[in-house]
Amino acid sequence: MTDQLRYDNRVAIVTGAGGGIGRVYAHYFASRGASVVVNDLGGSTTGSGADTKAADVVVDEIRKAGGKAVANYNSVEDGEAIVETALKAFGRVDIVINNAGILRDKGFARMTDDDWDLVHRVHVRGSYKVTKAAWPHMQKQKYGRIIMTASAAGIYGNFGQANYSAAKLALHGFGMSLAREGAKNNIHTNVIAPIAASRMTATVMPPEVLEALKPEFVAPLVGYLTHESTTENGGLFEVGAGFVAKLRRERSHGAVFKADASFTPTSVGAKFPEIIDFSQPQYPSSIMETDWMALLERAKALPSNPNPEPQLRFDGKV
Ligand code: NAI
Repeated sequence: MTDQLRYDNRVAIVTGAGGGIGRVYAHYFASRGASVVVNDLGGSTTGSGADTKAADVVVDEIRKAGGKAVANYNSVEDGEAIVETALKAFGRVDIVINNAGILRDKGFARMTDDDWDLVHRVHVRGSYKVTKAAWPHMQKQKYGRIIMTASAAGIYGNFGQANYSAAKLALHGFGMSLAREGAKNNIHTNVIAPIAASRMTATVMPPEVLEALKPEFVAPLVGYLTHESTTENGGLFEVGAGFVAKLRRERSHGAVFKADASFTPTSVGAKFPEIIDFSQPQYPSSIMETDWMALLERAKALPSNPNPEPQLRFDGKV
């Protein structure tokens, strides 16, 4: 008797699986019965170059351990080709782990259009293209498990990572919308912000911290979220070094204003302490959860300001 979650007869695509965290995912799924597409372009951390060796080595390792895997060397920007590899080799695709990534860290003042665009192309467009190609197959089979890889840099912001953090948080919005669209077809999408020692973090973390952060400590959450028995859909999780936590949005109770001439920047300033007061927090989890009618009623109940200052105008006149 084993309590292992297994993925027999499932086909998993892991992008950027030639190293780092992706390699561990590929081994994890293969060791538990899945057939795995090991995708990796084999480039540098900053996205230059290409080498088929990265994916080949991992495929060899998996096969030697008795698992099923094939290599794919396309960039994630060629998502159709990666999904095609899965279909040709294994006939289906059940799990997509959007993991491939690069960095172009630089202070914003020195960041070039190339630094911005390349990071977005690999992370955002790459995750889009692979997922887009897999989506119709998942819809048809009424089953799919998708992971988007965000980052704490996207959630909290980080010095020198304006390009990367913008791209990483985009994946959160992307994943949350897919979670809603896929639910009726049993396609679940979750988003993770991992932290692990890899060539990507080797330059930004001290060696003693890196030692505690094995990529192996990210894979169990991804394994859980992508299992057929798991119902979680649309979650955002931080994971690393044996720590797993879910994040949600908190909104202050907020202030309301009469939608008339009394609603001015000065009146916003007067109520700013109320706007940023989190003593009565709300946790909206959908666009539908804001009761605009109730807010209008709350505003209507406010007393009128007998001496409103002139409203701001945006036509250059006062
Ligand atoms: P890594 O650099 O070790 O692995 C990334 C892999 O993606 C590499 O093997 C690389 O060749 C591949 N890759 C890059 N561009 C590609 C492309 N266009 N097409 C196909 N493959 C491509 O990095 P690591 O740390 O394993 O990162 C994995 C994911 O986790 C990335 O999305 C990264 O942004 C994210 N992440 C990692 C953190 C960490 O602490 N290591 C922190 C937050 C997020």
